[in-house]
Amino acid sequence: MSRPAAASLPTGLGAIARQNGITFGAAVQSGLLATDADYAAAFRREASMVVPEWEGKWGALQPTEGEFDTAPLDGILAWAKAQERLVRGHALVWHQHLPAWAEEALGQGPERATSIMQAHIRRVLAHTRASIRDWDVVNEVIADPPGSDTPQAGDLELRDSPFLRALGPAYIDEALRMARRADPLLRLTLNEYGIEEDTPAAAEKRRRLLALVRDLLSRGVPLDAVGLQGHLQLAKPFRPEPLTALITALRQAGLSVLITEMDIRETADAPQELAARDALVNERAYAFVSTALAAGVRTVFTWGLSDRYSWLTTDPSVAMPAPRTHRGLPLDASFRRNAMWEALRRAFAGA
Ligand code: G3I
Repeated sequence: MSRPAAASLPTGLGAIARQNGITFGAAVQSGLLATDADYAAAFRREASMVVPEWEGKWGALQPTEGEFDTAPLDGILAWAKAQERLVRGHALVWHQHLPAWAEEALGQGPERATSIMQAHIRRVLAHTRASIRDWDVVNEVIADPPGSDTPQAGDLELRDSPFLRALGPAYIDEALRMARRADPLLRLTLNEYGIEEDTPAAAEKRRRLLALVRDLLSRGVPLDAVGLQGHLQLAKPFRPEPLTALITALRQAGLSVLITEMDIRETADAPQELAARDALVNERAYAFVSTALAAGVRTVFTWGLSDRYSWLTTDPSVAMPAPRTHRGLPLDASFRRNAMWEALRRAFAGA
């Protein structure tokens, strides 16, 4: 698929990134593209690539067994085609946004589980073959270690999920092999969170991720890339070295590494003064992205463009105490470029 020439991108983050050999994109919602003109204009201005925020998930695409609803996803694919933007896919196998029928079927034995995974992956990849060339095939498969925000009980290193309970660890192999068989030229990505910061829990999750990836590759399981989600929290420390070491190890294993869902969660006791808040966001965003770029990352996605529709604003489990909202994306709630926009600009320009 042809990539838009730099000249066709207005001077936004996508154009600035492209001038330095980097792809900048953001998660997008089909309904908002259709209803919010400012939202659509921001994506035209800033993003050279998009990823569906929810429209590519099992619950959106196959809410009832055998009945696929691709309309929301197709809205994004049509917009991207018209705007000459690329699309990456998210997420074929994930324990969340899974319809009840699928969760039930996964509990009906390994044959049934394998059958519904096969049918879903084949149908979705056939539908998007001409428009999406990189999918998060498996998402968030590592168990959160002790000390993380949501530690998993027990000593399993893989997340306990309907897929793990149905097929054991081999569900990851199966999903990746099914995707490779369905589309041999598709880039297969394993996407994970909680591996970016300088905490004992993140260090353990990095260790688990590297062990999993090395095991998969050693057994010839197809895998091309690892996505680091990048849902950063200012309440947690960050040091470049652990992130550099992770990215370097993944790339030495022959994998591409991309940032897939970056945003920044401020602390509940963030300063009142906007400039002080923005300085903290700017500093963390720049440190994270410049470290990733220096280690060889060349694709950076934020999880949305504007604070107005961020999950950090809409999801009570992570939102700031009202009436404040996180300033964790490149554009504020009024679509004005803010501290993260400047941090990303500086990191892309300096790459
Ligand atoms: O499903 C309805 C759909 O029928 C309706 O037309 C549409 C209209 O807005 O809304 C859809 O509702 C919700 C959707 O967000 C849009 O707001 C879904 O019910 C809700 O589950 C969905 O939440 C998303 C969540 O993943 C689950 O898919 C969030 O937007 C999205 O930000 C969040 O993203 C996850 C990544 O996939 C994985 N990493 C963590 C990240 C944050 O949780």
